Amino acid sequence: MKIRLDKYLTDMGTGTRSELKKAIRSGKASVNGRIEKKPERKVDTETDEVVFQGQPVPYLEYEYYMLNKPAGVISAVSDRNNDTVVGLIRERRRNDLAPVGRLDKDTEGLLLITNDGALAHRLLSPAKHVDKVYFAKISGHVTEEDVLLFRQGLDIGDGKPTLPAELTICSSGAVSEILLTIREGRFHQVKRMFHAVGKEVCYLKRLRMGPLVLDSNLKPGEYRRLTEDEVNELCSTGKKL
Ligand code: URA
Repeated sequence: MKIRLDKYLTDMGTGTRSELKKAIRSGKASVNGRIEKKPERKVDTETDEVVFQGQPVPYLEYEYYMLNKPAGVISAVSDRNNDTVVGLIRERRRNDLAPVGRLDKDTEGLLLITNDGALAHRLLSPAKHVDKVYFAKISGHVTEEDVLLFRQGLDIGDGKPTLPAELTICSSGAVSEILLTIREGRFHQVKRMFHAVGKEVCYLKRLRMGPLVLDSNLKPGEYRRLTEDEVNELCSTGKKL
């Protein structure tokens, strides 16, 4: 892919476009060993060697991170008042990363963060019905009747019942623990489904999205890059579905 030198460096998070135009004009960038002062110079992202302020800057088209989202952080790129999930990815190179879908501020767990817009689109498309698995603590007894109701689909006030969801009771008591698999991503869906059967979610954590499973070594707030196998599996699953 051929792109302008200033875009190349902006994509790699070395500064804003206007800062980079200035820096390039003042001789801070080189391409294949030669100082390049034209921000509009086209560079080949695969073969040209770009150096900025003495540091080689290899091009990375896509970045993929798995975050164990902590509670209290919002699923956004930037926000005036709150920490954001993208802000937690300190090693990010690209400046166009975004979360794939949202978890509520108080929800924890698996969040994919990438700049691969086509993948994000496939994973979020309502037509693809990508499985999402959640662990939750529910105040009140979760019963076999709830399991049936979740399987049948619930009216959560959208005018259209939810798709059949798989509810597994891990323990039932004053606070019950459950696993839930849903194939949609409606706003506050898990909380609204329990609300529809008269119960409250008091803790919610996403464990899986399609083939991507939350790495149990990641503590809340920790993240890692996806492995090549995870990326390949995610990409092909989205296409097959
Ligand atoms: N369902 C919810 O209610 N909240 C989330 O964060 C995710 C799914």
